[in-house]
Amino acid sequence: MTSWVGSDYFHTTILFVRIKFSCQINVRLVFLCDIEGDLGQTEWTAATLSQIKSQDYDVFLLPGDLSYADTSQPLWDSFGRLVEPLASQRPWMVTEGNHEIEFFPIFEHTTFKSYNARWLMPHTESLSDSNLYYSFDVAGVHTVMLGSYTDFDSDSDQYQWLQADLAKVDRKTTPWVVVLLHAPWYNTNEAHEGEGESMRVAMESLLFSARVDVVFSGHVHAYERFKRVYNNKADQCGPIYITIGDGGNREGLALSFKKPPSPLSEFRESSFGHGRLKVMDGKRAHWSWHRNNDSNSLLADEVWLESLSTSSSCWPSSRSSDEL
Ligand SMILES: [Fe+2]
Repeated sequence: MTSWVGSDYFHTTILFVRIKFSCQINVRLVFLCDIEGDLGQTEWTAATLSQIKSQDYDVFLLPGDLSYADTSQPLWDSFGRLVEPLASQRPWMVTEGNHEIEFFPIFEHTTFKSYNARWLMPHTESLSDSNLYYSFDVAGVHTVMLGSYTDFDSDSDQYQWLQADLAKVDRKTTPWVVVLLHAPWYNTNEAHEGEGESMRVAMESLLFSARVDVVFSGHVHAYERFKRVYNNKADQCGPIYITIGDGGNREGLALSFKKPPSPLSEFRESSFGHGRLKVMDGKRAHWSWHRNNDSNSLLADEVWLESLSTSSSCWPSSRSSDEL
């Protein structure tokens, strides 16, 4: 019989996260986070974790689809054991994907039951009533974790919380604002086409008005990086959208991208891999994507990012960059 809260990995992982975020974190000049979605527990997952483990980083961000347990509880345990060597050393900050819903007709109607029990994130600290969406600050980066599979319309709790959370962001303290969610709002892969559209329609203007720098998503088992976008058009004041659902899941890669390529899409590839965001200071960050090449990690895409907090043209004159 599997215990939901008694395993070593639960205590190690969750206690570490809560201790780290209840204390002042030492702010480094360079803040590094590794980002990976749709992790699973395959040989590709092991390769990704091995590559991440060999590098220095401060925080690991995971935009959903963790264990692929899909109601088989022992798979949550094996996933915990698989990631424990890393998750006991660094904060692992996650949000949920469709494989965390675990709705089971007749037997189980409470969604996200195991996810909420096993991966309790520090949501109350950001005044969220739900473990399914929350935010936190680390070293100049305000990170917002959203839920693709909980209500997001304008009268929903998640929408109201997001609106209030973004309104409180002080870009002097956290010049960078990044958002993670599972189902991508922008996607030129044929897999999961349009699944994030209703959430995009409901919430995109909130992120745009807050001058969010980057939106990371998973779900599509491939890598794709977009230009700065708002409402399906290139916009210098919109977020960069990055899909990074290529962690190593058991379902395989999403191999078919639509043709011809969208002019909004800068780079796309169906390979397993992981991403690294290196925040240099309040203005500059370096994003790189590393393809799993057999057991090796190969730099395949990189770009320098400039925080929108320093872009005077993206803020109303009443709130110029000098005031940020
Ligand atoms: Fe997914």
